[in-house]
Amino acid sequence: MTDPQDAIDAESATRTRQRDSRISERTAGEVQEGVPFIGAGPGDPGLLTVTGRELVEAADLVVHAGSLVNSELLEEYCADAEQVSSVGKDLEELIPLMRDAYRNGRNVVRLHSGDPAVYGAALEQMDALEHEGVPTYIVPGVTSAFAASATLRTQLTLNGVANHVAFTRPQGKTLDPDEDHIGEFVEMGDVTTCIYLGTHAVDETMDRLLAEGHDPDTPVTVIYHASWPDEDVIEGTIATIGEKVDAAGYRASALVVIGEAAQGTGYERSYLYGDWANGGSNESEADD
Ligand SMILES: C[S@@+](CC[C@H](N)C(=O)[O-])C[C@H]1O[C@@H](n2cnc3c(N)ncnc32)[C@H](O)[C@@H]1O
Repeated sequence: MTDPQDAIDAESATRTRQRDSRISERTAGEVQEGVPFIGAGPGDPGLLTVTGRELVEAADLVVHAGSLVNSELLEEYCADAEQVSSVGKDLEELIPLMRDAYRNGRNVVRLHSGDPAVYGAALEQMDALEHEGVPTYIVPGVTSAFAASATLRTQLTLNGVANHVAFTRPQGKTLDPDEDHIGEFVEMGDVTTCIYLGTHAVDETMDRLLAEGHDPDTPVTVIYHASWPDEDVIEGTIATIGEKVDAAGYRASALVVIGEAAQGTGYERSYLYGDWANGGSNESEADD
């Protein structure tokens, strides 16, 4: 097997030279040849797409993201398939596993939590497989921020409150302090900041925001296991949320949402069902 970084570099170089013809020949959602990288959604088996479910049901080998994928989903849709957790396995182990199974004519699917495009490290696996001659494609899923907003019965963008959404993560092993932009998003004021991979570090993250002078009363909501049976919502502020999350004992699998949109308060009616509905123009820019 080619060294994964060499495979990534080679595939990137090919993409730089010429656009992958599948981009224009295929549509998202279309079942294609190869190994699908499927977004399992946030946890509830009902939140897997119809196409994702059909592919998982037909699979002989399901490589999944361990505890982030609800075992109920695996039991319901692929109990008879070989199931392998990717947790603790490196590319050198995962790629030959999927490659050889595919070459042996087995139906292989790679199941990521939420959507593979958000903190999924999917592309490096896809590039390594493509380099070995195994075609791949993505089947999107519901990312946990969208499940969280559904749990909270709100929107991430809200007229007069939040015009932007940031998907981000805090500094730590994989992100240097100067790459942590949470404070900048909060500073912008009209951004709903969705922090992935930060459950273990809520206290430190909030301490940094306080040290940077952000309003301690800024609302922060933590949604643990959105869409799972043990889903939990903790509400607080920059000043209080760290202690509350510590007390609840959550160290993983939660989304931290900073901003008033999480509460669904303080917003104004939109133009869509106001001026635009009454003969306004530029339909293409209206909200849904
Ligand atoms: C490796 S990232 C994968 C994100 C995933 N690709 C997605 O789109 O949701 C894992 C992080 O996603 C968040 N997460 C995943 N599932 C979640 C859920 N059901 N509820 C809340 N947060 C979740 C947590 O912040 C967790 O640390």
